[in-house]
Amino acid sequence: MTELEQIAAPGSEWWRSAVIYQIYPRSFADSTGDGIGDLPGITSRLSALQDLGVDAIWLSPFMTSPQKDAGYDVADYRDVDPLFGTLADFDTMLAEAHARDIRVIVDLVPNHSSDQHEWFQQALKAGPGSPERARYVFRDGKGANGELPPNNWQSVFGGGMWERVTESDGTPGQWYLHIFDPTQPDFDWTNEEVKEEFRSILRFWLDRGVDGFRVDVAHGMVKEAGLPDYAPVADADSMGGGEASVPYWGQDGVHDIYRDWHKVLAEYDGDRALCGEAWLPTLKQTALWVRPDEMHQTFNFPYLMTPWEAKALAEVIRESLDEFGSVGAPSTWVLSNHDVVRHASRLALTADNPQGEGIGPNSPGKPDAAIGLARGRAATTVMLSLPGSSYLYQGEELGLPEAMEIPDEFRQDPPWYRPTGERDGRDGCRVPIPWQADAPAFGFNDTGSAWLPQPAEWATFARDVEESDESSTLNLYKKLLRERRERGLGSGALVWEDCGADAVAFRRGELHVAVNLGTEPLPLGDDVTFVVQSQAFEGTALPVNTAAWYTKA
Ligand code: NOJ
Repeated sequence: MTELEQIAAPGSEWWRSAVIYQIYPRSFADSTGDGIGDLPGITSRLSALQDLGVDAIWLSPFMTSPQKDAGYDVADYRDVDPLFGTLADFDTMLAEAHARDIRVIVDLVPNHSSDQHEWFQQALKAGPGSPERARYVFRDGKGANGELPPNNWQSVFGGGMWERVTESDGTPGQWYLHIFDPTQPDFDWTNEEVKEEFRSILRFWLDRGVDGFRVDVAHGMVKEAGLPDYAPVADADSMGGGEASVPYWGQDGVHDIYRDWHKVLAEYDGDRALCGEAWLPTLKQTALWVRPDEMHQTFNFPYLMTPWEAKALAEVIRESLDEFGSVGAPSTWVLSNHDVVRHASRLALTADNPQGEGIGPNSPGKPDAAIGLARGRAATTVMLSLPGSSYLYQGEELGLPEAMEIPDEFRQDPPWYRPTGERDGRDGCRVPIPWQADAPAFGFNDTGSAWLPQPAEWATFARDVEESDESSTLNLYKKLLRERRERGLGSGALVWEDCGADAVAFRRGELHVAVNLGTEPLPLGDDVTFVVQSQAFEGTALPVNTAAWYTKA
């Protein structure tokens, strides 16, 4: 076996085939009743995840933070924000998850800190040219009095990417870089102290027993030397650019950081893993993130962004397997997360909706709910049959749609404020999830308080309702996960089959998988026995917006 083949050998490392469930802590389960979910809440609901059949959970940030970007603005990387509990609560949660054979991945946010981080506060006080400022990206402004930003970069959240500070003597001073909100200053990753600090943060959580890290903005940490001006091209999206190179995305230097971290994780037993959040324009580039000595996984955002269209879906699956396979890495698959419109709505949108735009009461192209849910269930039925590792986002197992009617006064996502209300933002996929139809806040807590309002119709999506409904989305997910595990679908080969231009079909060993993305029922032949149908149907013709797993006589 070559080294690559050895590394790629199925089953040798848990993350190669794992189904990983994303918990967005503030919206999962709230033990204190303050309307914001917390770590004891997660612990209290772990049995539901064991019952669902996932291999691991990934927790979005719960570290100390002023919550300007829902925790992606970390003020202390080694502590738990009181909103979510304590380090002891974390340890309990971790132990309880491990006791159920559920691994735990935590979010690491290395591109930027909160402006409330001790280092940034020191940088503000210390002044230009100081070692404290050198941990961040401070520059003098342009113009006669430094009144213009150092370059023309535009923040992902809207507005310029630079903020001017007032120096301690009260005069207008230098500018600092923030790819996201001004409260999220970027670290300077050429600085040795920054590198050492993050090695130490990794070890802090590895010592506590975490199984890995999801690395936030893994493609943004290194900026092109000289910070040159950049004219965004037409195909650029805010997180990843288009084909053209962008001076703050995907710079080669990021790979040295991952190689360094790979070594840190390798000091620990138990196959600890890094998963990169890297929005890159092509799968070829994405695969560079998971070369054998770098990250273990990276999110497959091209797959997530694929429209409901047979040719596009087949192509992205084929290309994912080829590109990730070429570096000996498993492909990952993902349809929803806390930054995108939930896939049970997104797949039926009838107007363009760029990532981060969100959907509000006045947005065009809102989806038909039934079509969205049917496509969402079919898409997951395909995803969970694919070799590699799949990510699920809390609530998708209930078939939750995007919350599209959130009144303006409740919106909290930074893009909503920058500049003002032009983008609805990501709150619609972050609403606290329903557990019980007849309980306060649908069982999210026992006070009825929720940081974002839950749509009244979510009673029908509550877990207790779905538990007892054989045809529910929850029971579909459970069945898919059970069959996937029993049949070992997380690894092995995929063989393409031809089912016509409006369908995608392939075989995983004896199991056939087909999805109908067209407008007419798709005959599968008389000799089929269904293992899973994404929604119940009679006969052997696959209805539109439906997927199935089946065997042939
Ligand atoms: C990506 C995270 O997923 C998103 O929620 C956050 O706003 C940005 N990174 C900034 O940290």
